[in-house]
Amino acid sequence: MDDLDGVVAEALDVFAAAGDPASLEQGKARYLGKAGRLTEALKSLGKLDPAERREAGARINAAKERIEGALAARRDALLEAEFEARLRGEAVDVTLPGRMRARGSVHPVIRTWRRVEDIFRSIGFAVADGPEIETDWYNFTALNQPENHPARSMHDTFYVEGGLLLRTHTSPMQVRYARTHEPPIKVIAPGRTYRVDSDATHSPMFHQVEGLWIDENISFADLKGVYTDFLRRFFETDQLDVRFRPSFFPFTEPSAEIDMAFSSGPLKGRWLEISGSGQVHPQVIRNFGLDPERHVGFAFGSGLERLTMLRYGVGDLRLFFEGDVRFLEQFA
Ligand code: PHE
Repeated sequence: MDDLDGVVAEALDVFAAAGDPASLEQGKARYLGKAGRLTEALKSLGKLDPAERREAGARINAAKERIEGALAARRDALLEAEFEARLRGEAVDVTLPGRMRARGSVHPVIRTWRRVEDIFRSIGFAVADGPEIETDWYNFTALNQPENHPARSMHDTFYVEGGLLLRTHTSPMQVRYARTHEPPIKVIAPGRTYRVDSDATHSPMFHQVEGLWIDENISFADLKGVYTDFLRRFFETDQLDVRFRPSFFPFTEPSAEIDMAFSSGPLKGRWLEISGSGQVHPQVIRNFGLDPERHVGFAFGSGLERLTMLRYGVGDLRLFFEGDVRFLEQFA
């Protein structure tokens, strides 16, 4: 084996060309493996006489060491490159903003819902909850609105299979509650309601709070007192005017729309309708299972969105249901 320098140079080239550990190990086999070039050279030493053998052996061993040295260096370089690549892959951009912990908050309409509950509880009203999927009887018939009553067309609603419907108001809760409780009945029932309606002030799903006070001597004067007091507490001001405008509901007689306007501040003088109301109709009292000659009282049904819009000065009801965080976080 004369051209040991050539073999070493070739091995160095092969190692340098190996781009990954597997091809490097293949290259190693060609020179140092069982049938590798240097292994073969060492085996052939046996044919030489002792003096030549010593000299050739030393040269072959020197060549072997150079190849082994190059191999080790290349192994290190490949490992290093692999490590660098991994670091680059896992690199973190320390200039990125930190991870924010998202903080949820109560939806403004639910905030209103809770405030309304607190205020009415504080003056002795119970709070009741009822189904959003109603029977026709509770939603209409029991409220003095039979099948062909013209007032039903105001309540075009979503019908569910089996003759059920999504309640168009919280008023069915008057009937459900009164049929399962003894007078005096003093309750509010907040909840979701549904109508085929959609514009800046109407949404197909919205919230109402029903109020009902039935005893032997509850009059329209009590309604005025309770409701006006509620509004003053809800808006935390006495600077507001309340107006009871004659209206019609099949389940109350007489009936009134309750309008309010602030008497100071940016919304000063703008009247907004916030509630239907009235003395409960004698036929409805009968449907409660009570005697209208003995039990009388008032009911109201107010829009929670309307109250919220007034409280925060929101101009478009649809904002409440778009889920836009930029809008909602203003109430957090
Ligand atoms: N239920 C009526 C509505 O949705 C409001 C109302 C409730 C009116 C109670 C009178 C008494 O418009």
